[in-house]
Amino acid sequence: MIPDMCCKEDEGLKIEGVSVNDIVEKYGTPVYVYSGSRIRENYRRLYDALKERYDKIRIHFAAKSNTNISILKILKEEGAKLDTVSVGEIYLALKAGFRPQDILFTGTNVSDDELNYLIDSNVVINVDSLSLLDWVLDKTHPEILSVRVNPTIGAGAHEHLITAGDDSKFGILERDIVKAYSKAQHAGVNRFGIHMHIGSGILDPDPHRKATGKLMNIVRNVREKTGIEFEFVDIGGGIGIPYEPQEKEMDLERFADEVIGCFKEKLEQYDLGNPYMCMEPGRYIVGDAGIILTRVNTIKKTKSKTLAGVDAGLHTLIRPAMYGAYHHMIHTGCTVDKEMETYDIMGPLCESSDFLGRERELPKLEESDILGILNAGAYGFTMASNYNSMLKPAEILINDSKHRLIREAETMEDLANKQRY
Ligand code: LLP
Repeated sequence: MIPDMCCKEDEGLKIEGVSVNDIVEKYGTPVYVYSGSRIRENYRRLYDALKERYDKIRIHFAAKSNTNISILKILKEEGAKLDTVSVGEIYLALKAGFRPQDILFTGTNVSDDELNYLIDSNVVINVDSLSLLDWVLDKTHPEILSVRVNPTIGAGAHEHLITAGDDSKFGILERDIVKAYSKAQHAGVNRFGIHMHIGSGILDPDPHRKATGKLMNIVRNVREKTGIEFEFVDIGGGIGIPYEPQEKEMDLERFADEVIGCFKEKLEQYDLGNPYMCMEPGRYIVGDAGIILTRVNTIKKTKSKTLAGVDAGLHTLIRPAMYGAYHHMIHTGCTVDKEMETYDIMGPLCESSDFLGRERELPKLEESDILGILNAGAYGFTMASNYNSMLKPAEILINDSKHRLIREAETMEDLANKQRY
């Protein structure tokens, strides 16, 4: 939740001093609103906690969580590098001003056209399969190359969010890692990184520490067999955030102690040099900095429930329908003297799964009330769609108590624009 979001009973919700009513009046609903200062705070908190314990830290923001160019620019100003997974993300990263050498590409199952774009754009490639490695070595002479390891220790808030394990689609298994680096070495590459990403939405430091230990053992093995001294070791993203009111934040101090502790211990124990330690958080940086404002259109009773229909739906935020994810909701208006009632919050799509929340206790709702859907800054807009020919919403950035449009809402013309008829 954005910390300086406050709700004065007479004025309604304000985000960093900007009234939700003003935003809704100006830009309509549904609308994504981000707090620039919260993004900076999140970045700095994580960077400082890691940097306090190890000097060579790099944070690659995971662009897949939010690719708005204005948000990418904030992170660039903070000193972040980028983790990208598609040529589209690279394109947006370059537009935001990132230098190619600060962009790591970790795509899986990449097409020939994408590969050609990659080579031309000169970003750092993190190969995810032996066949991609062969292709890269055949077509170019990379200045630096990284390999994504599947450490087979996976974790995540939902089974769809686990990205390592014996049969995972991501990364290269340990048994092939030495072969991969030797091949690259023989092809003349002489600067290397190593990478993993075990999953997403992990609030417990343990899986991060265990997987870091495993990765460092692999680093040692590669070092012994090939003599490679790594320039960077990237332990991926995956730090969770609390979505439900009773959930606790990840204990950052403990995380940093354990993960950096393990990393440094192995560096010293196996004499592995002085590589950069990289992390690739997405959700931790932008998740709680975003809120969706949505208008109640319909109140409807079924046999046993009261449904509140809002103008956001799974086309605006797919996480509840896709992962059963919980997003807390608040009434943004004046709620003095309102009784509480329990609602299922439904979207406007012709899909029975189009619910944003179930059994939510909220101050009694009326049509045209505005609800705020919290923690929507990561994997919100980037996963939005035009299903049912719905329009993607505007995005607004609040900075220093001022709001600014950072993406226009789509219009009907956008729906037909690329069609030929
Ligand atoms: N690095 C790599 C290689 C990744 O695949 C991911 C996320 C990240 C970093 C960033 O993970 P984060 O710190 O944000 O957890 N759509 C899902 C999340 C899928 C994440 C996939 N990879 C959701 O809405 O929860």
